[in-house]
Amino acid sequence: MKKRLFLSAGVLALCAVAASALAQDNKFRIGLILPMTGQQATTGRQIEAAVRLYMAQNGDTVAGKKIELILKDDTSIPDVTKRLAQELVVNDKVNVLAGFGITPSALATAPIATQSKTPLVVMAAATSSITQASPYVVRTSFTLAQAAVAMGDWAPKNGIKKVVTLVSDYGPGIDAEKYFKERFILSGGQVSESLRVPMRNPDFAPFLQKVRDLKPDALFVFVPSGAGAAVMKQFLERGMDKAGIKLIGTGDVTDDDQLNDMGNGALGVVTSHHYSAAHPSALNKKFVDAFAKANKGLRPNFMAVGGYDGMRVIYEALRATKGQGGGDALLAAMKGQIFESPRGPMFIDAQTRDVVQNIYLRKVEKKDGQLYNVEFDVIKDVKDPGKSQ
Ligand code: PHB
Repeated sequence: MKKRLFLSAGVLALCAVAASALAQDNKFRIGLILPMTGQQATTGRQIEAAVRLYMAQNGDTVAGKKIELILKDDTSIPDVTKRLAQELVVNDKVNVLAGFGITPSALATAPIATQSKTPLVVMAAATSSITQASPYVVRTSFTLAQAAVAMGDWAPKNGIKKVVTLVSDYGPGIDAEKYFKERFILSGGQVSESLRVPMRNPDFAPFLQKVRDLKPDALFVFVPSGAGAAVMKQFLERGMDKAGIKLIGTGDVTDDDQLNDMGNGALGVVTSHHYSAAHPSALNKKFVDAFAKANKGLRPNFMAVGGYDGMRVIYEALRATKGQGGGDALLAAMKGQIFESPRGPMFIDAQTRDVVQNIYLRKVEKKDGQLYNVEFDVIKDVKDPGKSQ
């Protein structure tokens, strides 16, 4: 009797193990960590919407696996991002980590990707060094170096000789400042002052006053997505445009999430970036329409496209590994992917795991009564300039 009891307990335990293994087999879990609240909440909102749109359009079963999305709000606090990633890997056994609204969150989490051999798909953060923080990082957003170099080349050819730079004082801002300056000076431009504003709760007023006094031809700006409208408002309130100072920057400042509410004062602002909601391709029109339809008319910004393409990279890696791959196999299948994105052509460089893409020069114009970043020039297939130095 005792023996039989023992046996059946053993059989039960075996069944439990088999059942859980089966459940595991049939599910593919994506741990999506985003700032859904706090200063970077628009990034979270845009990426979540894009990820859900991709799943709605492409189904939630790939290579026999049911995709399970586990969304966590890190409030853009790096320690929270790291803790959530640890829990997702250990407790939820996620197959992929994704999201990462800001650079410090991505950097804090990179060691967890390395230790657990879990691919980490960066959909937003854009400091060059992130891909070097772990061999498991793959990026589908952009780098500030990519965007800033294009502006550093364009400005001196277009009558801008003297510039003040104003950037958020952390990774992407420092990259933007460095790569813009380097190229601008190489073409004979002069940077009279480089100002850095705190990343958290910045007050732009004293910095803008200083810029006004220095009276450069242009002010080059990088602020993270979500902060552009405040810069634009204070720039116009101080009459800097009327004083003959142009506003230029990477496309983060004329973010499609906010641009249409910035008013006519934004007209004519030239920026360099990898994505505009006005990108004139059939695929992008379809993306913008479907995104708006699913989200009460919301216009996708560059964060959304990073999320959408990140899901593409994950889905195709799962398909290529026939649902059987562990972290290393998935990572290998992410490297070298090449496809048409709503932003234009892009590929994931197999060596660097970073995105190679077109960078566009754009000017804010009114189209059908709305403000858009209208592309007027393109630099094709730009690799991250931050990797070769
Ligand atoms: C970043 O923290 O890497 C970051 C955030 C927002 C941007 C660009 C870069 O618009």
